[in-house]
Amino acid sequence: MKAGSAVFVLAAAAAVAWLPALGAGEGKVDYPEGYREWTHVKSMVIEKGHPLYDSFGGIHHIYANAKALAAMKAGGPYPDGAVLVFDLLEAVKTEDHAIVEGARKVVGVMQKDSKRFAATGGWGFEGFKGDTRERAVTDAETACFGCHAAKKDQDYVFSAYRR
Ligand code: HEC
Repeated sequence: MKAGSAVFVLAAAAAVAWLPALGAGEGKVDYPEGYREWTHVKSMVIEKGHPLYDSFGGIHHIYANAKALAAMKAGGPYPDGAVLVFDLLEAVKTEDHAIVEGARKVVGVMQKDSKRFAATGGWGFEGFKGDTRERAVTDAETACFGCHAAKKDQDYVFSAYRR
């Protein structure tokens, strides 16, 4: 290989190595491996008649990893590496008047990475369908961030930790 092309190859490799740092808003959220072992923050049931029923109807549980939990207790801001999960399951009414968990609908995720997700407040938003790793969100900016923007003073997070 000639010296000139070797330099080109090195330059190309360096450019590829830089891509994650430069791809603001284009990074993809990681699947939150092991989130069921994280801290449970709160739960909520959204029934028919609630304005968010079509998107978020069912019972959801919110989980925080260690970095997110510490920030939530402090009221924000959240450091890079903080991850929050919105685990949405069907809410099934039983004949004897209980509401129990049904099938998982979606695993909603917020992952803090101020470089990768600079366009959406430093948070990456994603949904993984049911029990799969299949991505459900095509436009996080309008589908998720638009609404979470209302909580800018809490670093775009709605939930608070109760004792
Ligand atoms: C119309 C408003 C709205 C939209 C759109 C929305 N969310 Fe949320 N989100 C909420 C509210 C309200 C909560 C708090 C729920 C609770 O109190 O249990 C929440 C909570 C969350 C949480 C837990 C952290 C927190 O902020 O409390 C995650 C993770 C989350 N949403 C992800 C998403 C993702 C991913 C999308 C896009 C697919 C999305 N959200 C779209 C309103 C919205």
